[in-house]
Amino acid sequence: MANEQGVEIQVLTPHYYPWKEDISSFFSRRERSFSALSQKKPATPELLCGAEVAYFRHMRDTDLSKLCIGNGRTLLIEMPFESWTNSIVDDISFLSLDMEYRVVLAHVERFMHYSGNRQKLQDLSALPIVYQINAEAFLHFRSRRIAAELIKSGYPIILGSDAHNCTSRKPNIAEGRSFIEKRFGAGCLDKMDFTASSLLEEQF
Ligand SMILES: [Fe+2]
Repeated sequence: MANEQGVEIQVLTPHYYPWKEDISSFFSRRERSFSALSQKKPATPELLCGAEVAYFRHMRDTDLSKLCIGNGRTLLIEMPFESWTNSIVDDISFLSLDMEYRVVLAHVERFMHYSGNRQKLQDLSALPIVYQINAEAFLHFRSRRIAAELIKSGYPIILGSDAHNCTSRKPNIAEGRSFIEKRFGAGCLDKMDFTASSLLEEQF
């Protein structure tokens, strides 16, 4: 489906929950799935492995390199579904500046309604990090306002499908892109694509 939508490189980001398994067990499970997929998949899109890493308290003391995208330092983090504390923000800052991960925060639009998180996102934007928005957010009237607010804020943003299956949460990147192009112009899409490729540049 992604191929039909013109996707050239697809990053696969299964959820990593530290309370369910350790990183090495997740990594070998993902390797097994990826090699099974590689035997069946069509030639395109090109596939890269990553993970959507749920935030956890001891992240800063953990080697997260196996969870990064491909062989690079880009790390997709899913923040907690609550109001973020200063210590959470400090941890993200540590991962970005001290550990030099290229941090991407997953589907930021889903955290905006928690008290204080708008301000925290603004504080975090001083770091060299990227915010990811789901294509889905642009396709529904209720979430569109928040997605538009994030675009207009000028943050470095990338679009993701957050696809989980081929039915209720299917690949929908083309629909999202077409809405963004109509509403915000082709330049906005170009900017997102530039940001996305800069996150992958060490892969090729
Ligand atoms: Fe998520």
